[in-house]
Amino acid sequence: MKKARRKGAVAGGNGSYTREDRQQGPAGTIFASVQVDLRESWWIGGVEIPTRLVLAPMAGVSVQAFRRQGRRYGAGLVCSEMVSCAGLEHRNERTLGYLRVGTDEHPLAIQIFGSEPGVMAEAARMVVAAGADIVDINFGCPVRKVTKTGAGATLLEDPDRACAIVDAVASAVDVPVSVKLRRGLEEGSRACLAVGPQLVEAGAATLTLHPRSAKQMYTGTADHALTAELVELVDVPVIASGDVTSRARAQRVLATTGAAAVMVGRGAQGNPWALREIVDGDGEEPSREEVAAELILFIRETVRELGEHRASGFLKKFYGWYLGRGRFPRPFKQELVELETTDEVVMRLFAAAPGAHEFVERLEAELPDRNDEILLDSMPISIYGGG
Ligand SMILES: Cc1cc2nc3c(=O)[nH]c(=O)nc-3n(C[C@H](O)[C@H](O)[C@H](O)COP(=O)(O)O)c2cc1C
Repeated sequence: MKKARRKGAVAGGNGSYTREDRQQGPAGTIFASVQVDLRESWWIGGVEIPTRLVLAPMAGVSVQAFRRQGRRYGAGLVCSEMVSCAGLEHRNERTLGYLRVGTDEHPLAIQIFGSEPGVMAEAARMVVAAGADIVDINFGCPVRKVTKTGAGATLLEDPDRACAIVDAVASAVDVPVSVKLRRGLEEGSRACLAVGPQLVEAGAATLTLHPRSAKQMYTGTADHALTAELVELVDVPVIASGDVTSRARAQRVLATTGAAAVMVGRGAQGNPWALREIVDGDGEEPSREEVAAELILFIRETVRELGEHRASGFLKKFYGWYLGRGRFPRPFKQELVELETTDEVVMRLFAAAPGAHEFVERLEAELPDRNDEILLDSMPISIYGGG
C-alpha cells in the first residue's frame, strides 16, 4: 500500500532540501536559507521532469502551440486542457481533437475530468494510447457546467468517489496518475488536506494544489501556507499552483512550501518570456520582432490544429496578451481583432515588424514533422485535416 505520510525530510521528490533548511521568521513567516535550482530535474513516478516549472492546464488556452512554446521557454512538464471523459466515451470529434500530441511535447500530462470511475478509467486508457506520459485528473474546476455533473471541484467534498476515481484510473494505466485540486469548495475550506493524503493512498503519484476555493474562482490570492501543510502530509511530490508570475515569487513559493515544482498559468498567457525569467533568471524584454514572430508562429500552428474557422475566434484574446505590456500601441491590437482572417493578421504583424520573418523561419524549421504525431484509430478523419 502506498504511504500518504512520511516523517522527517520533505517528502519524496519535493524540494531538494529538508524541512530543517526552512526557518521560522520573526512574524511567523517561513523563509528559506536555500535557493532552489529550477533547472534541476525531478520525478513523477518513473517520468523525469527536466525543470521545476510546470505549464498549467488552461481550458481555451492550452492548445498544442501553447504547450510547445512553454517547453521551448523552460517548462519541464506541459499539460493539456481538461478533456471530458464523457466526450471521449462518445467519441465526440472536438474532444478527440484534444488528444493530438506532438513528438516535442514530452513529458506531457493530459488532464481528464468526469465523475464515473469506470468511464474515467477508459478515458485514461485512451489518453495514454494517444501519447500522454502522465494522466492528470481534474478535481479543481469550479465552473458550474462541470461541477453540476459531480465532476471537478465537487469531488473534494466526496472523498470516497474521488478515491474510487483515482484508484480506477491508476489501475487502468501504467503511467503515473496526478491529481489537481483546489483547497475546497467554500472560502477558507481545508478539504484538500483531508482528501489529499487519501488520494495518494488511492494511487496518485503527485498532487497539484491551487489553494483557492472553488467559490473564489480567481479572486483573492492563492494561500500557499496550505500548500506547505499538504507537502508535510504526503510522500509524493506536490506542485504549487497560483499567482506565480516571476522568479522571485517562484523561489519564495518553492522555499516556503517545500513543493517540488511551481505551476504557471495566467503569467504565461502571451508571455513565454515570463517562463524564461522564472527558470533562468533571464528577464530581458523581448524585441518587437520576437513578440511578433512568436505570435505569428502561434497563429499558424493554431490554425493547423483547429482549422481557420475555430482558430480565428479562439486567437483574438491572444492578440491582447501578446501585444500588451507596452509592446505595441494599443489601437494596433484592436486593428488585429477586427481583421477577418488570420492570414490578414499575420500580414499586418509582418508589416509592423518586418524583422520577424527571420525569427519565424527559424522557429518553423524547428517544428517536428507532423506525420510523427500519434493519432488514434478512433479519431474521425476531419481531425487529420485542419490545414
Ligand atoms: C482560462 C483558464 C482556464 C483554466 N483551465 C483549467 C483546466 O482546464 N484545468 C485545470 O486543472 N485548471 C485550469 N485552470 C486553473 C490553472 O491551471 C491554475 O491552477 C490557476 O490559473 C492558478 O494559477 P495562475 O495564477 O498561475 O494562473 C484554468 C485557469 C484559467 C485562467
